[in-house]
This record gives sequence, C-alpha cells and structure tokens, in this order.
Amino acid sequence: MFAARQVFGAAQRRAFSVSAKQSSKVTVLGAAGGIGQPLSLLLKLNPRVSELSLYDIRGGPGVAADISHINTKSTVKGYDPTPSGLKEALTGADIVLIPAGVPRKPGMTRDDLFNTNASIVRDLAKAAAESSPDACILIISNPVNSTVPITAEVFKSMGVYNPKKLFGVTTLDVVRASRFISQLKGTDPANENITVVGGHSGATIVPLLSQSGYELKGNELDEYVRRVQFGGDEVVQAKGGAGSATLSMAMAGARFAESLLKAAQGQTGVIEPTFVDSPLYKESHGVTYFASNVELGPNGVEKIHPVGKITDYEQNLLDVCLGDLKKNIEKGEAFAKQNM
Ligand code: NAD
Ligand code: LMR
Repeated sequence: MFAARQVFGAAQRRAFSVSAKQSSKVTVLGAAGGIGQPLSLLLKLNPRVSELSLYDIRGGPGVAADISHINTKSTVKGYDPTPSGLKEALTGADIVLIPAGVPRKPGMTRDDLFNTNASIVRDLAKAAAESSPDACILIISNPVNSTVPITAEVFKSMGVYNPKKLFGVTTLDVVRASRFISQLKGTDPANENITVVGGHSGATIVPLLSQSGYELKGNELDEYVRRVQFGGDEVVQAKGGAGSATLSMAMAGARFAESLLKAAQGQTGVIEPTFVDSPLYKESHGVTYFASNVELGPNGVEKIHPVGKITDYEQNLLDVCLGDLKKNIEKGEAFAKQNM
C-alpha cells in the first residue's frame, strides 16, 4: 500500500509538473548593452523563464552563446540585427523588455536622451506591435516618462494597444528608496519597501516615506528625497562618462519580470510600482500615465492602487511631479504622432 502510494505520488508529481509548466518566452531588445547583459543573465537564472530571446543591433548572438552555457533549463537564442531576426526574436513572446538606447553622460538629463531614444523605442515598439502584440512590454529606455507614451501611441496606431500590458519600469526607484532608508535607519534593506510614485526622472520621482511609518525631518528628509530623485545622477557621475546604472537596473528589471511571471503563473497579491496608463490623475491634471503600486495578474495590470494618504510635504512633491510629468508625456505623444 505504502509502495503503491509512493508510485502514485511520483506519477502525480510528474503529471503536476507537466500541467503546471507554464512556458514563458522572454525577449530582451538591447540585450548586449550595459543593462541587457546582466539582465539576460538574471533571466537565465530564473526558473520561470523557459525561453530567452536576445536581440541587439550588435552582439546579440554572442551574448546568447555565452549565457546559453549556464546549466539552467531555459533555452537561449540570439538574433541577428535584421528585420527577420527581430521578428523571430519577438514572435510568441510573453514578456518583452526594452533597454535599447543610449545612456546619460554627466551633465545630461534623461530628457536629453529623447532625440536619440525616441526613434529607437518607436521602431522597436512597431516591431513588437507586429510580432508580439499580446506580450507585456516593459520599457526601460529613457526618458521613460516619454518612451512609454511613444510605445502606447505606436500600439494604438496599429490597433493593438492594451493598456494593461504596457509598463514603464520604475522598480529601480523603489529599490533605491528602500536601500537608502535602510542606510539611515540601520535596517535590513531587503525588508524595506518604500512606495515611490509619479514618473522616472528627477522631480517626477516621489518617494512616500510617510507610508512606511518612518519620519524624517528637515534637512534629513530633504536630503533623502533628493537622493532618491537623483540616485541615477549619483551613478552617472561616479561612472564618469561610461554610462549610467546597469547592474542595479538589471536587478530591478529582473525583479519586475519575475513579478509579472509569478502573476501570470497564478500567484495573487503580486504588487509592483510601475508607470502605466493610469486613471489616477487623468481627469484632474490631464496626466495620462502615472507610476503607483500596481497589482499584477495573468493579463498584466489587475488593479492600480491610488496614492493614498500622504503628508503636505509629499503633496507638494506630487504637485511639482504632475506638472513635469504632463509635459514629458505630451512630448512623447507629440513625437509619436508626428513621426509615425
Ligand atoms: P548601453 O549603451 O550600454 O546599451 C544599450 C544597448 O542598446 C546597446 O547594446 C545597443 O547596441 C542597443 N541598441 C541600440 N539601438 C538598438 C536598437 N534599435 N535595437 C536593439 N538594440 C539597440 O546602455 P544601457 O546602460 O544598457 O542603458 C540603456 C537604456 O536604459 C538607456 O536609455 C538608459 O538611460 C536606460 N536606463 C533606464 C533605467 C530605468 O530605471 N528605467 C535605469 C538605467 C538605465
Ligand atoms: C537611473 O535611474 O539610474 C536611470 O534612469 C539611468 C539614468 O540616466 O539615471
């Protein structure tokens, strides 16, 4: 009886592992770059990824060959920088991460990247709209406040826009906000999860420290907020012209992709901050995209959480954020409409 139950148990486990195996193809566009390489590495280590598809205008197949030797189950394929390579890389993707584009140098704002990155993102968005219209699209390329609206306009123009499946990746802001408070308070950063709302550049990044139960005052609060808002500049300056955050961004992008995969594979209560097509400030401020905590589900966005209770200090930050954000969004939309 015991033996029979054991045999039955093994068979059951096999059957379960077959039926529970929900394959997921994840594509990285810009896979040979500073973010793309470590991001692809982290995705290769993720057992929820079954197929990893790596595309870049240079070096995609090399990165793929290297990563493919890692002894995890997923298959890895690199694609040549041709229209058919891009099409193949995207076809059947569940998640498409886009870190393609140029990074900042000291003295530049993210908006200074607009002229170069807007058309890169537009072209990759067109390819994704054609070949993977149902995928979740994760935009990393800056300026995120504008590249997300550009992507949305491309998808709209091609009749395949699904607001639940387009995400600006703002996870790094939360990662930083959590790390920086842990340094001030002497806590374990892994246990911190500071809500950050708004967008992803300077004053549009609004950490809501009050919601975590911490209270900083005066200069200490100003300096904390400034460090979160300009954490990217800290890295750009430290790298001295060799680019911006790549490794911490790879971790943040991999975390966001992991959360989407968890939600797609049936886990409930998965919440990540992300910049999405959002109703929160649409009517009141004409701000059509906004980052707040978002519950993820099998179809992407499940529920957009409101900002919630905030202090007067945070409200002032939010007011400045909304003004800037509106301009960044409109700039992206105008570009897309004029340059389709
Ligand atoms: P990088 O220059 O090291 O890499 C970019 C890669 O994109 C290169 O390999 C390049 O060949 C590739 N590329 C360029 N055009 C392409 C195209 N049309 N198709 C496919 N690949 C293309 O830059 P990086 O440090 O990896 O940064 C990439 C982008 O991510 C930058 O715009 C940067 O500002 C942004 N970024 C965003 C965040 C965030 O929090 N969202 C964080 C860090 C960096
Ligand atoms: C970051 O926040 O590190 C990125 O957006 C890159 C940058 O230009 O700061």
